[in-house]
Amino acid sequence: SRHLLSVDSLTRESVDHLMRVAARMEPIAQRRQVTRVLEGAVLGNLFFEASTRTRVSFNAAFCRLGGSVCDTTGFTFSSMAKGESLYDTSRVMSGYCDAIVMRHPDQGSVAEFAAATHVPVINGGDGPGEHPSQALLDFYTIDKEFTRLGKRLADAHVLLTGDLKYGRTVHSLIKLLSLYDPMRITLVAPPGLEMPSHLIDLVASRGHRVEERSSLADDYADVDVVYTTRIQKERFTAEMSEGFSLSRDFTVDRAFMDKRCGRDTIVMHPLPRDSRADANDLDVDLNGDPRLAIFRQTDNGIPVRMAIFATLLQVDELIEKELRPVRW
Ligand code: CP
Repeated sequence: SRHLLSVDSLTRESVDHLMRVAARMEPIAQRRQVTRVLEGAVLGNLFFEASTRTRVSFNAAFCRLGGSVCDTTGFTFSSMAKGESLYDTSRVMSGYCDAIVMRHPDQGSVAEFAAATHVPVINGGDGPGEHPSQALLDFYTIDKEFTRLGKRLADAHVLLTGDLKYGRTVHSLIKLLSLYDPMRITLVAPPGLEMPSHLIDLVASRGHRVEERSSLADDYADVDVVYTTRIQKERFTAEMSEGFSLSRDFTVDRAFMDKRCGRDTIVMHPLPRDSRADANDLDVDLNGDPRLAIFRQTDNGIPVRMAIFATLLQVDELIEKELRPVRW
C-alpha cells in the first residue's frame, strides 16, 4: 500500500522488509553516518492530539534522511478550527508535502484524510483505532531483545495488560504479532477495559493461543514480554469516568516482576506512562532495571520510522549508496 494506515495492510513479508531496512538505518539513527537520500522532500506532520514520541521521532527520522518538516499541532493551528473539512485539508496539504503523518482523536479519520491525497499518509494514531508505526517499533524491539537474550519468537509468551479497550498500540501490536508463527498471548485488563472481541477472534483464527485473565496476581514466570499501557481516561464516556479508580492490582512494578515473572522477562510500554499520583500503569521503581526496555523501545522509533519513510517513498534501495561518515 502507498499509505500506512493499519496493520491490516501489512504482510509478514512486508514487515520483514521494514525490519531489514530499519536495521540498515541504525548507523544513521546512532549518528555514526549521514544520508541525504530524501533531500528536497517535505514532510507534513499534522497532530490534532498531544504527542511527544511519535511527532518528534517522525520529524527527526525524516530530517535524518535529508528531508525537511512542516510541523503543526492542535486544531487551533489549522484551519479546521474555522470549519475546514478533512477532505479540503488533505487536498491542500498534499499540494505542499511529499508525505504526511497525522494523528487525530477520531477513529477512521486518518484513512478518510488519506483517501483524498496522492501522497503517502502514515497513521500516527486515530483515536482508539490503530497506531501501526508504534507496533512496528514494538516488534523491532521484541526482535532485538530476543536476539540479545537468545530467544525465539516462535516460542514467545507475550502478556498485554492495562487499557486494552482504548489502547490503540495494543490493537496494532496484537494484529502484527498474529502475522507470525503461533505464540501464546495473555490479556489482563481492568474490568470494562478488555481487548475488543473481534481482535481476540482474529488472532485465535490464525492459530495463536489467546487467554484472558482477570488479574496480575498469577504466575507469569514463563512470560517473555510484559507489555503494559496507560489507562486512556480521555477516551472514557462520562458513565465510565464516574467512579472509576484503578487499583494497584494492575500495576507493573518491581514486586510484580520479582515475584511473578522470570529473570529475563522484559517490560515494554508505548509511553507516555502516567506519573500522576492516581495512576498505576508502570511504576518508576523499575527505573534502572535492565528488564525495563522502555527507553530502548523509544530509541528504536527512529530507525523504524526512517524505514517506513524510505519504503513508502521508494528510496530504501538507495540508502546503502548514499551513506557518508559524520563530519560533526
Ligand atoms: N507512544 C506514543 O504514541 O507516544 P506519544 O503519544 O508521545 O506520541
